Amino acid sequence: MPSLTLRHPIRTLDNQLLFPPETLLTEEALDAVIDSRKADSYETCPLLSYGSVREDCLNFLSLPPYATIFGDKKEIDDLLNIFETVHFSIPILQSLDYFKQHDLYTYTHVLMVFAWSTLLAKDLIPDYEECIRLAATGPTHDIGKICVPLHILKKTTPLTKMERGFLQHHAAAGYVLLGYYYKNRRHLACTVALDHHERRDRSGYPRGNLLKDPLVEIIAVSDIYDALIMPRPYRSGAYDNRTALEEITEMAKQNKIGWDVVKALIAHNRVSHPHYRELIISPERRGTPPPNNVYGVTAEETDPKNRFR
Ligand SMILES: [Fe+2]
Ligand SMILES: [Fe+2]
Repeated sequence: MPSLTLRHPIRTLDNQLLFPPETLLTEEALDAVIDSRKADSYETCPLLSYGSVREDCLNFLSLPPYATIFGDKKEIDDLLNIFETVHFSIPILQSLDYFKQHDLYTYTHVLMVFAWSTLLAKDLIPDYEECIRLAATGPTHDIGKICVPLHILKKTTPLTKMERGFLQHHAAAGYVLLGYYYKNRRHLACTVALDHHERRDRSGYPRGNLLKDPLVEIIAVSDIYDALIMPRPYRSGAYDNRTALEEITEMAKQNKIGWDVVKALIAHNRVSHPHYRELIISPERRGTPPPNNVYGVTAEETDPKNRFR
């Protein structure tokens, strides 16, 4: 159960304050907020029929770097069949409008994490229903970013420690918002939003918990991979595919993420497309990360005045 202090407020897009800053987030506190809105009902809509989502998904999947993996028509049709099953309530769908309008990186990212995680789930999760349940958490995993100021989300220079803390607030904010909209804090989407930045060696956030749920891990790895291969405000270019896969392999070697998901991802990148259990990974590192990457570096660390404090 989460017990963490919220350093920043959690508000819905229509500006309802769910928690003020400095609240201790407990299950009881969240249940009280959920109960206060139990009578509200939200209309739902299939994700692919909402706005331009279908067109945008197909467009992103047809462009590099996605097109190399999702080039196969059968693969896309299989994905779309699963995508068709996903419905959301209107307030959740409005978060996609918000990102499309204000932060295109996040909009593309959440839709492509949806695609990657569905692709990997088909390999790793034998139960089809479970696979569908997981797929529906991809587009909402970063919904908490509606509670992070846009100038922080889009900042091109290193974040200050305060800004980094604010960015990390999106995990708990997503948990609260989804608990509120689904009226159930145990919904898988809530767990994914809260824990997708946790790691197996407890080096993640927001709680430094053990990443142990295989479903959350599929989203976590899809999230890391997509963030590496796409351009980001905080670095000069995207990682090339080989270097991105090497970075992810390194994380598995350091026991931050599990081997099965990493192997499933690499298997999709091999022309021969072996079964992930038969995949042999070369120990060689040949890729070069893009220059001027300020991810994970705080402004305080790069400021010469602060270097020796
Ligand atoms: Fe995230
Ligand atoms: Fe993400």
